Amino acid sequence: MDIRPCAPEDLTALDRHWRSGTVHAAHLRAQESGSATFLVAWDGAEPLGSGMVQWSGPAGEAAATAYPGAVEINHLQVRPEHQGAGVGTALIRYAEQLVRDRGRHLVAVGVAVDNPGAERLYTRLGYRRTGVEDVTEYDWVDEQGSTHHAVERDMLLVKELGADGD
Ligand SMILES: CC(C)(COP(=O)(O)OP(=O)(O)OC[C@H]1O[C@@H](n2cnc3c(N)ncnc32)[C@H](O)[C@@H]1OP(=O)(O)O)[C@@H](O)C(=O)NCCC(=O)NCCS
Repeated sequence: MDIRPCAPEDLTALDRHWRSGTVHAAHLRAQESGSATFLVAWDGAEPLGSGMVQWSGPAGEAAATAYPGAVEINHLQVRPEHQGAGVGTALIRYAEQLVRDRGRHLVAVGVAVDNPGAERLYTRLGYRRTGVEDVTEYDWVDEQGSTHHAVERDMLLVKELGADGD
């Protein structure tokens, strides 16, 4: 598995294997603006999963108020057929190293209150509940190319990064 920030020339392969509507292009634009890093995990030419590192902090209002200095990981997604194989863990670890490299130390993530599997993953990696919640709305595209609108209650988890790789 190879994880790297998405390059403009990756977009065609990314969209060919993994339909997203305009989501991948929007993530790439955010990266080009400097506000985020758009990470993609690959197995050769096949994308396995992706995630965004938001340098300007949490998107949610309550989260941004409580943790204005945090870097947020969001839009973490592994393609269904590749879930459970360590891709999500590797993307989070890679994102954390980017955060350390920039001299930042606090990482935040919003996890839907009805997504205990994702919370378990983050808890195992050292993230802790904060009691802060936000309601977020977003569009997502399924593997068939249909767009769905989601309204989600997210609880904020945070992790203080140590210098030793954890
Ligand atoms: C949550 C997600 C990113 C995890 O990525 P992954 O590559 O499957 O995770 P890993 O293989 O590194 O780690 C496995 C852990 O992820 C969690 N997990 C959550 N949903 C899972 C799923 N559908 N399949 C497997 N593991 C899942 C579990 O804690 C699991 O550990 P366990 O086996 O002890 O229960 C991925 O399952 C996914 O894309 N889910 C749908 C979108 C989503 O929920 N995103 C998270 C937003 S915060």
